[in-house]
Amino acid sequence: MSLLDTFKEKAKANKKKIVLPEGNELRTLKGAVIAAQEGLAEPILLGDKAEIIALAEKEGLLLDGVTVVDIAGSEHLDDFAEFFYELRKHKGMTPEKAAQTVRNPLYFGNLMLMKGMADGLLAGADNTTGDVLRAALHTVKTKKGINTVSGAFVMILPEDTYGDNGVFIFGDCAVNPDPTAEQLADITISCAETKQSLIGGDSTVAMLSFSTKGSAAHPNVDKVTQALAMVKERRPDLMVDGELQLDAAVVQSVADKKAPGSEVAGKANVLVFPDLQSGNIGYKLVQRFANASAIGPILQGMAKPVNDLSRGCSVQDVVDMIAITALQCE
Ligand SMILES: CC(C)(COP(=O)(O)OP(=O)(O)OC[C@H]1O[C@@H](n2cnc3c(N)ncnc32)[C@H](O)[C@@H]1OP(=O)(O)O)[C@@H](O)C(=O)NCCC(=O)NCCS
Repeated sequence: MSLLDTFKEKAKANKKKIVLPEGNELRTLKGAVIAAQEGLAEPILLGDKAEIIALAEKEGLLLDGVTVVDIAGSEHLDDFAEFFYELRKHKGMTPEKAAQTVRNPLYFGNLMLMKGMADGLLAGADNTTGDVLRAALHTVKTKKGINTVSGAFVMILPEDTYGDNGVFIFGDCAVNPDPTAEQLADITISCAETKQSLIGGDSTVAMLSFSTKGSAAHPNVDKVTQALAMVKERRPDLMVDGELQLDAAVVQSVADKKAPGSEVAGKANVLVFPDLQSGNIGYKLVQRFANASAIGPILQGMAKPVNDLSRGCSVQDVVDMIAITALQCE
């Protein structure tokens, strides 16, 4: 069974309500219908109800198991507006602006999460990453103990030589261009938690750099070692080490030379990149040159699961991300 199939079986066993704010978007609609048919989740589509039903009919799609919520006619608008105003008034939000903002499906969906009407949210087929993230950051915010939202990828290599039988978590590959040491510590803890919740098994977390254990001196290296110290203090239970070069992190013979005695070096299955340039380039190198599957970005660190689709996504991507969002729900 593939890892994605395993994710889907887990999602089926514990069905969650996943809200899809872009209900009128065809790939999203089709993905929701398939997810409901396969029993992966209980999808909730937001949008103009008549328009969604007409689109489904035109495409020959049955909306069985899919809930459609019409924002314009929603009985929750006033309550949401008041709640959102209270949440953001310290940032200059006015009652009028709040009433207008909650009609934006991205905000309405996130408020559904906060009010317990849905368990997770998936958007981005139509909206930019920035818009999807901002709506969530203005509402559900980060989870307790984490101040930084980041984006991880599940990387599945064609061979099982490295990582957890060929499977890795890579992060941050999507959100924070130049994290501080504190943010890097948050990213590291979130990546370890993502490994735990999606893949299971032991997490061996390598904080990557161009230096291994002091082999080079540079402020960028210092940032990684500072972040490592913070992670060790905050989460003494985690198996984490740094700063490590990529080869020292995943190849035992190199680890034996460059980082002898490390319980992580040579065995890492979670790779934490020092910044977004290396993370984004790194996952694409592995995806393209090693023919690995890259599943993500999976947003981590939010108080409730919120995920972002690429605007070039396929219907299958929507289905897969519905299952993954469901798995991130508690
Ligand atoms: C995340 C992002 C939307 C923030 O945008 P922004 O213009 O800084 O938005 P705001 O200033 O309105 O910030 C919104 C709130 O989120 C918070 N925030 C911003 N980035 C955050 C992060 N990574 N983690 C946690 N909170 C964050 C801000 O502190 C702010 O909080 P507040 O309004 O309660 O004070 C922006 O950095 C972005 O677009 N990132 C996307 C990167 C991208 O496009 N990646 C593509 C590769 S897949």
